[in-house]
Amino acid sequence: MRGLGELKEKIVSLEADLGLRVEELDNEKAVEAFRIEYLGRKGRVSQLFKTLPEFDVNERAQAGKLLNELKEKASSALNIRKGELSAASIKRRVERDRVDLTLPGIYHRVGHLHLLTRVQQEIESIFLRMGFSVASGPEIEDEYYNFEALNIPKDHPARDEWDTFYIDDTYLLRPHTSPVQIRVMKDSDPPVRIICPGRCYRRDNQDATHSPVFHQVELLWVEKGLSLANLKYMIELFVYEFFGEECEMRLSGDFFPFTEPSVQVHIRVPGSSEWLEIMGAGMVDPIVLAEVGYDEEQVNGFAFGLGIERMAMLRYGIEDIRTFLGNDLRFITQF
Ligand code: DAH
Repeated sequence: MRGLGELKEKIVSLEADLGLRVEELDNEKAVEAFRIEYLGRKGRVSQLFKTLPEFDVNERAQAGKLLNELKEKASSALNIRKGELSAASIKRRVERDRVDLTLPGIYHRVGHLHLLTRVQQEIESIFLRMGFSVASGPEIEDEYYNFEALNIPKDHPARDEWDTFYIDDTYLLRPHTSPVQIRVMKDSDPPVRIICPGRCYRRDNQDATHSPVFHQVELLWVEKGLSLANLKYMIELFVYEFFGEECEMRLSGDFFPFTEPSVQVHIRVPGSSEWLEIMGAGMVDPIVLAEVGYDEEQVNGFAFGLGIERMAMLRYGIEDIRTFLGNDLRFITQF
């Protein structure tokens, strides 16, 4: 026959053992192993439960109660320990994954548009706002559009500076964007209000201000009753918008076979003593209007051709046109 005294002693020692061991359990696996050792079907507490039939009937209920209390205690101590361990492991993971916002980020180099493209787009946007649209033409151009239609016959001395880079007897790399005027007028009836930006080619040797490849923006406005004063006013609006109102501008006489009268436009940017030519312009020659089939008695117009590199050089103080083509990131990334 078992006695309650003996059972109580065992329970006290089991409890003491529980208190000591639980503290040492340092992972969830160890907790489970201990649970099996203690509370499992063949565990130490279950062994004691199995002795219950050996108790005196009067003490059996009391013994069962004591064992149940031990079981409860053990199971809750293990649950608490398990909870602590899982909280600690979450905390560790959070520590490990914490993002330090003060660390420098990963740097990705982002490209951007080339300065010439940006300047071209800015010029386009100024004229788009004034109601012009953007047209384009081929860089390999037909002699007819490039010269004859612009009133530059074969033997005309003006061909000299533009007569260049022939592909065959008919086609050449265009030395200016003016042939686009002809293409547009042949394609559409007046009124015409266009700008044509694009690449041009010349026989020029490369130096600080010349390049065999460069860019122009052509402008053409044909309608009824336009005058040189309209042209001047429009150029003024453009120049002040692009360079600022402190910029000075002047028109002087010039000659182009496709305009009459013809002018050249010089500007002087603030702080500079030099006047620099930025474009050729003029009233479209009636011969050109007649050539494209317009009634030169009814409509007239004006046009200009502007160098994009020039505009960029003046605005950003770039002294050598070759830097645009140099493909040097130290230059390109400045803008
Ligand atoms: N095409 C001329 C050149 O490249 C510039 C020019 C002058 C264009 C007068 C025009 C113009 O449209 O009217 O030198």
